[in-house]
Amino acid sequence: MGNNTAVEVKNLIVHYETEEGIVEAVNNVSFSIEKGEVMGLVGETGAGKTTIALSIMGLLPHPPAKMYSGEIYLDGEDLTKKSLKEMQKIRGKKASMVFQDPMTALNPVIKVGDQITEVIKLHDPSLSDAEAQKKAIDMLEMVGIKGDRFEEYPHQFSGGMKQRVIIAIALACQPELIIADEPTTALDVTIQAQVMEMMKSLQHELNTAMLLITHDFGIVANICQKCAVIYAGEIVESGTVAHIFDNPMHPYTKGLFGSIPSLDKDVERLTPIKGQVVDPTDLPEYCSFYNRCDYCTEKCKECDPKLVEVEPGHFVKCIHVMQGAEEG
Ligand SMILES: Nc1ncnc2c1ncn2[C@@H]1O[C@H](COP(=O)(O)OP(=O)(O)OP(=O)(O)O)[C@@H](O)[C@H]1O
Ligand SMILES: [Mg+2]
Repeated sequence: MGNNTAVEVKNLIVHYETEEGIVEAVNNVSFSIEKGEVMGLVGETGAGKTTIALSIMGLLPHPPAKMYSGEIYLDGEDLTKKSLKEMQKIRGKKASMVFQDPMTALNPVIKVGDQITEVIKLHDPSLSDAEAQKKAIDMLEMVGIKGDRFEEYPHQFSGGMKQRVIIAIALACQPELIIADEPTTALDVTIQAQVMEMMKSLQHELNTAMLLITHDFGIVANICQKCAVIYAGEIVESGTVAHIFDNPMHPYTKGLFGSIPSLDKDVERLTPIKGQVVDPTDLPEYCSFYNRCDYCTEKCKECDPKLVEVEPGHFVKCIHVMQGAEEG
């Protein structure tokens, strides 16, 4: 782990044990994010994105979730070794998460300003009430909300304003890492861009590392430095945004780009690629993208390829791409 690394996830395996079978949600995922860097995590529904986020935050529901392996280093410490109590302290202080739905994340019966003040005081108990309140007002204004709305309740705020407050709370403690799980999906398209823009500038200003989960390649292009594409709980391709956008190599990544709605159509989400997502309770021994792949051959059924570095910093999990690289 380099000096500048904010978070490193190594060999994460998480399954859900349900009555319908074992859902192999995350299968040996590794990545790291540097301080001040934003990594996009992209993939279809059910790919395991939220499960990865919850693993880092120590918020997996046990049962049914079970972490079979994995080390998660934040600030040099392995979070998987922490007690529940220690994780509680880490959440909000060193790592915070913004969820998809801004309607549920704020407490409806507490004034918005008080909710921000509470987090600030938790982070720095030496502050007086007046000092913490002043900071909370600053935070509100930083996210573009007038300070005099401090005394209002969440229902008096629009969806976009609520999500901006949630982001303000998430950033209030200047965490090492912020995880944003589709932070703008529940918002109007016009507000989405505003909230994303605000988040980007705050993240940049505070030099926070960010894991940004999204279905939207436009957001990745606009905000992220690097990107991992996930399918059936595995990273199938990762690299800089330039690698992924200018030179996508995995058939799945290419498929996702092929299914990007054109800009003049008012569709935000990726439409799925042909075929059904593989059943996570019944993953094959070989490449899990086999049944949907335009390039598959018999060879693909002989092994499960490894994620291989095909050019510096660009990783792909596909035997055909590997063969191409070997043959030069
Ligand atoms: N509490 C749970 N119990 C059982 N299975 C679960 C649970 N949570 C998630 N799963 C399953 O684990 C797999 C990964 O789910 P996850 O929510 O991590 O996907 P995701 O990539 O975040 O999807 P989305 O884009 O829809 O948010 C899916 O097959 C999902 O049905
Ligand atoms: Mg999710």
